[in-house]
Amino acid sequence: MKMSTPYYLIDETRMLKAMERIAYVSERSGAKSVLALKCFSSWCAFDFMKDYMAGTTSSSLYEARLGHEKFAGETHGYSVAFSDDEMPEIVEYCDKVIFNSLNQLEQYKAQVQEKDRSIGLRLNPEVGHSEYGLSNTVAKYSRLGVRYDLLPDKITDVIDGAMFHMNCENDDFISLSQQLDAIEHRFATILPNLSWLSLGGGVAFTSDGYPLDALCERLKLLANRYDLQVYLEPGEASVTQSTSLVVKVLDKVENKLPTLIVDAGVETHLLDVLVYQFLPDLEGAEEISEDDIDEALREGKSVYRVSGRTCLAGDVFGTYVFDRNIEIGDELKFTDVAGYSMVKKNFFNGIKMPAICHKNIDGETRVIREFDYEDFRDFLS
Ligand SMILES: Cc1ncc(COP(=O)(O)O)c(C=O)c1O
Repeated sequence: MKMSTPYYLIDETRMLKAMERIAYVSERSGAKSVLALKCFSSWCAFDFMKDYMAGTTSSSLYEARLGHEKFAGETHGYSVAFSDDEMPEIVEYCDKVIFNSLNQLEQYKAQVQEKDRSIGLRLNPEVGHSEYGLSNTVAKYSRLGVRYDLLPDKITDVIDGAMFHMNCENDDFISLSQQLDAIEHRFATILPNLSWLSLGGGVAFTSDGYPLDALCERLKLLANRYDLQVYLEPGEASVTQSTSLVVKVLDKVENKLPTLIVDAGVETHLLDVLVYQFLPDLEGAEEISEDDIDEALREGKSVYRVSGRTCLAGDVFGTYVFDRNIEIGDELKFTDVAGYSMVKKNFFNGIKMPAICHKNIDGETRVIREFDYEDFRDFLS
């Protein structure tokens, strides 16, 4: 089936590996995984994912509602700050409501208790792993979660569970295990009085080579020691390597470096490339460092800068050396774009929004959603 570019292709056959690893961890360790919707909310894949995951976790009312309506299972509701008007719906949709601060806990706990929902509090573990300042949740002055020394004595009379989120793309099991040691030490008076504990997301445990059995043992130890239901909140780890962004080359320009202009944009459709400054994987192309470009061009290699078609000067996916020459009209495929792309896409410059296509586990592909001028118009009004 020929689809017109640009489009995201969510491929369940490519998602299966991560799903199976998630299910394996849950079977072996008892730790349940809930999908972090902030990373991936494309619900066309939820019927497939819910066979492997226990439910969803959210960062807002809308995500909580989507999780409740489209994924079912457990629905965890967290927000950096809930507002008064959101609480009636939040307690309707969520079986666990996790507050970010003692103020919010105090303000809304009665509404959660009235509905017989479980109350959680986000804690700041003061240890964590992130290569990026922007996603360092335990940085100085962090507003995310409550530090141990600020917790009132009888906090576990009010809360049933707690949530930590302190990792970003952490593929080092030893570092996670050491964080858990530190948490056990710091929160020693709290943990035995909780019934559940979420360790958040940011752990790359579905990647090839991650020591899954060691992870399972460590999670089991934590759960057994304090009689806890442990949760993980994988976002990126759930959908890694599952989704492509397919674009077409509209033009080639030359300013000492051949530059391809494609029918999509970085800021609009792959925003994290700009935010976190990484090179997205591109099929048939490899990274080339700035220093090696001139020599590669002299040697006649197929070096191209791949750029978006917004007017932002820095709308650049990256510079690559290709295994072939690229012509106007060719299609290019970014191969690992599920996480944080579709949830962040926007209509900057009014450029065409990529369609969302879905390949199910049986290999059947469908265009799920196309976007047109009316979507652009009505998004703004
Ligand atoms: C509370 C919480 N849980 C889970 C996640 C998912 O993280 P990741 O996509 O890195 O697994 C995030 C990401 O910001 C988060 O803030």
